[in-house]
Amino acid sequence: MSDSYTFTMIKPCAVKSGFTGAILADIQKAGFGISAMKYVRMTVPQAESFYGIHRERPFFADLVRFMTSGPIVVAIVTRDNAVEEYRKLIGATNPENAAEGTIRKKYARNVQENAVHGSDSDENATVESSFFFSQCERF
Ligand code: RTP
Ligand code: MG
Repeated sequence: MSDSYTFTMIKPCAVKSGFTGAILADIQKAGFGISAMKYVRMTVPQAESFYGIHRERPFFADLVRFMTSGPIVVAIVTRDNAVEEYRKLIGATNPENAAEGTIRKKYARNVQENAVHGSDSDENATVESSFFFSQCERF
């Protein structure tokens, strides 16, 4: 499906380290288009809601603290089979397990500060995109 899309965030660690431009270049080199993008800082309630699925996990409080620690870049990216292809491009959650050449292998610090987010299903790509973008911010 050539018009499929996924939702991504460049996380605070990568923005702070100055990797935004390099990560966007990797995304475009991998054949993704950008149909929405902006720079935001999540509030604590927003991060708790966005990562609500992880509420019971031991790392939840740390994750919310981290994700609200600075600005992030949020974007909707498009290509065929976007969700699966984007997860391949970013690599495993823990950069120690991420394949060579993946975004997390290149730019992540550790399992939490792992540079980028990518939706894990088409359903979540839809929910997560709507969380950040109104219709008039999507092209
Ligand atoms: P994401 O949702 O950010 O794309 O990452 P993911 O699917 O690869 O991993 P997920 O299981 O959804 O975890 C969400 C984020 O929580 C942080 N995390 N910390 N300390 C830990 O053991 C741990 N495990 C996960 C990471 O920032 C992870 O991306
Ligand atoms: Mg996830």
